[in-house]
Amino acid sequence: MVQIFSSKKTLACAIVALSVTPALAFPASYSSLGGLSDLELRELMPKLKPVIPPAPPGPLAFTGAKLVDDKKHPWQRQGKDDIRGTCPGLNTLASHGYLPRDGVATPEQIIKAVQEGFNMENRLARFTTYAAHLLDGNPITDLLSIGQKTRRTGPDPPSPAIVGGISNHGTFEGDASMTRGDAFDGDNHSFNQTLFDQFKDFSDRFGGGFYNLTVAAELRFQRIQQSIATNPEFSLFGLRHLTAYAEATFPATFFVDGRRTAPGEAGHLDMTSAESFFKGMRYPKGFFRPAAPVGTENVPAIFTAHPVQPGKNVGGVNTFTVDESLGSILDGCTFYTQFVNTTIRGLYPNPTGVLRRNLNLNLKFFYESSGAGEECPQVFPYGRD
Ligand code: HEM
Ligand SMILES: *[C@@H]1O[C@H](CO)[C@@H](O)[C@H](O)[C@H]1NC(C)=O
Ligand SMILES: *[C@@H]1O[C@H](CO)[C@@H](O)[C@H](O)[C@H]1NC(C)=O
Ligand SMILES: *[C@@H]1O[C@H](CO)[C@@H](O)[C@H](O)[C@H]1NC(C)=O
Ligand SMILES: *[C@@H]1O[C@H](CO)[C@@H](O)[C@H](O)[C@H]1NC(C)=O
Repeated sequence: MVQIFSSKKTLACAIVALSVTPALAFPASYSSLGGLSDLELRELMPKLKPVIPPAPPGPLAFTGAKLVDDKKHPWQRQGKDDIRGTCPGLNTLASHGYLPRDGVATPEQIIKAVQEGFNMENRLARFTTYAAHLLDGNPITDLLSIGQKTRRTGPDPPSPAIVGGISNHGTFEGDASMTRGDAFDGDNHSFNQTLFDQFKDFSDRFGGGFYNLTVAAELRFQRIQQSIATNPEFSLFGLRHLTAYAEATFPATFFVDGRRTAPGEAGHLDMTSAESFFKGMRYPKGFFRPAAPVGTENVPAIFTAHPVQPGKNVGGVNTFTVDESLGSILDGCTFYTQFVNTTIRGLYPNPTGVLRRNLNLNLKFFYESSGAGEECPQVFPYGRD
C-alpha cells in the first residue's frame, strides 16, 4: 500500500514520543485537540465552531509551468501576528498570499495552494496535508496552522504557551531537517544559517554549486549521521522516515524554475533561489512553477544511495537502534496502519460526537490519499459510520 513510496520491505521509528499540546486557557481556533483529556475536550468543544470537512480538491485543470510570482500574489513581509514554520514551501505560499497570510488554513486551502503555487501532484498534496491535519490540526474547526505560535496567555501565568501547528515536534515536524535544528538543541523550527551553510557546502561538493538529487542523498545522510552523534533523543521512524527522505528531494524538484528543463538545468537548484525560499520565504523574482506535477518519484533514488533503517537513539548519542514498529518508507502498509491505529488513536483515544465524525472523515480522506489497495485495508479505530 502507500504506493507513495514505491518499494515495500521494511525499515523504522516513531511518533511514539508524541508531544502533547499543553492545555490552554484560551486556545486558538486552530489549536490541535490531540492529547487533551476528556475533561479538557468537554470544556473546549462548546467554544469551537464546528465545520463539516469538505472532500479534498482534485487535480489542477492546467498542470503546466506558469508564472506564480505574479501581480495577484505579491510577497509581503510576515506580519507581527502571522505564523510561519518549518516548511519553506508553505511559508512561501503564505508570504505570497496563496495561503492566508496569517498562516492558518483549511486542508482544502493547503491542497489548492501547493498545487497552484508549486505544482505538487494531487495525491501527495492530499497525503501530506491530511497527515499534518490529523496530527497537528483542529478537527472541529477544520483549521491547521503552518507553524507554531508562541502566545502569551496573559500576565498570569507569564510563561508562553505553544499553540498547535505543524512545527509541533514529534508529530509531523521531526529531527535531522536540512535547515532546521533538532528539538533537542532548543529551536526546532527557525531557519538556521549554520545548517544552510552546510546545505551550500554540500551543493558545492556534490552538485557543482547546485542542489540536485546527488546532493540530496548526501545531505540527507549527513544530517542523520549528525543527529545520531549529537542528539541523545534522535528519532527517525514511522512518518518521519518517510518525510525526511521525501523533503530532501523537494528543493531539487519544486524550487527549480519550470522553464529550466534542459539537461543539466532541470533538477539543479541555484543557491540564490535556495536562499530565497528557505530564508526569505519568497519566490525568486518572476518564478515559474514546475512544468509538470511533482510527486515522490525521486525518493527511492536518494534513499537507495544511503539507506538508513528506521530507528532511534535509545541510550544516549550513538545508540541508534532499528525500530520498525511504526513502519517506514519500506513498509507503507505498516506505516499507514500504525499511524491510524497507534499514533492518531493515541492523540484521540475516545472521540465522540462531532469530533468523532470529523476525525472519521479526515481518516477517510487520508486513507484515500495513501494509494492503498486491497492488500492494505482501511483501519477504523472509531468504528464505521
Ligand atoms: C502539502 C502540504 C505540506 C505540508 C503539510 C508540509 C509540512 C512540512 C513540515 C511539517 C515540514 C518539517 C519537517 C521537518 O523537517 O521536521 C516540512 C519540511 C519541508 N517541506 Fe513541506 N509541507 C507541505 C508541502 C510542501 C511543498 C509544496 C514543498 C515545496 C514546494 C515543501 C518543501 C519542504 C522542504 C524542502 C522541507 C524540508 C526543510 C528542511 O529540512 O530544512 N513542502 N514540510
Ligand atoms: C520547539 O522550538 C520552540 C521554539 O524554540 C520551543 O519553544 C519548543 O519548546 C520546541 N519544542 C520542543 C518539543 O522541543
Ligand atoms: C544552528 O545549528 C548549529 C548546528 O547544529 C548549532 O550549533 C547552532 O546552535 C544553531 N544555531 C541556532 C541559532 O539555533
Ligand atoms: C549533480 O551535479 C553533479 C555535479 O554537476 C553531477 O555530477 C551529478 O551527476 C548531478 N546529479 C544529478 C542527479 O543530476
Ligand atoms: C488496532 O488496535 C486495536 C487495539 O490495540 C487492536 O485490537 C486491533 O487489532 C488493531 N487493528 C489493526 C488493524 O492493527
